[in-house]
Amino acid sequence: MIELKTDLFGFVLDPPLILASGILDQTARTMERIANNEVGGIVTKSIGEEPREGHPNPTVVELENGLLNAMGLPNPGIEDFKTELDELRQSVERKPIIGSVFASDPEGFAELAQNMVEHGSDMIELNLSCPHAEGYGASIASDDEMMREVISRVKEKIEKPILTKLPPSTEIARKAALAEESGSDGIVCINTVRAMTINFETQEPILGNKIGGYSGKAIKPIGLRCVFEVYREVDIPIIGCGGINTGRDALEYMLAGASALQIGTVFHTRGKKSPNKIAQEMKELMEKEKIEDLKELIAEAHK
Ligand code: FUM
Repeated sequence: MIELKTDLFGFVLDPPLILASGILDQTARTMERIANNEVGGIVTKSIGEEPREGHPNPTVVELENGLLNAMGLPNPGIEDFKTELDELRQSVERKPIIGSVFASDPEGFAELAQNMVEHGSDMIELNLSCPHAEGYGASIASDDEMMREVISRVKEKIEKPILTKLPPSTEIARKAALAEESGSDGIVCINTVRAMTINFETQEPILGNKIGGYSGKAIKPIGLRCVFEVYREVDIPIIGCGGINTGRDALEYMLAGASALQIGTVFHTRGKKSPNKIAQEMKELMEKEKIEDLKELIAEAHK
């Protein structure tokens, strides 16, 4: 019997596929539907202290090998989102709910994390990686001191595991080590890749914000490289994310050193049954290669 189980801070993820932040996760109803559709866990939309509209339209463009978005962290704010979290907690019992938060300073992150935990989050994901929201996300990770303070302040405030989601910079391994040193319990890599597209006819950038983040198939080699490099620097679990479209992609991330995975853009290309399809493909490939347990694969590309 092929085992697709993996452990993440005491939670059994089966399969090891977690819904990534930003896709189908704004309301309890959509998250619940995905949770019951064979993901191992769920990350919420990134939530801030106040309601935020986000960037002007267009905010999403489909490209040949992925999606380009500049949503701009739109969200209802933590006060409103608490209701969704309470509802979600009641309907999803055994799967971890990971609350994603963003703020512009350490205190903001800490308050948000505490609220998320009080309303049922099992873990916190710090969004230090959104590539297109000035003063948030990747801007925080670009400043070592700020990043250190954010993580250590959240660590003082909550007792649940903290995941730090990093941008795919050439410095990702050093940043991951800094996150570990500051108290992060796990690393999520990667977020979308800063990118843009231009309409030749109108001679203008297409996104309202001009610059956005690229996700999907095209970024898998970047994600793999990041997981591989981070694995060499840290001893905490790595959650791989970026362009996982098939079971083969998922297993490649595990070979690079990921012990769990996040999926998002694939829902756009392969539909709502994507987790089931990916899990089935993982099993078929493992069966073919006579691998019974995912543990046999994790970080094997380093040997
Ligand atoms: O705009 C957004 O909500 C995207 C967030 C992110 O890329 O982290």
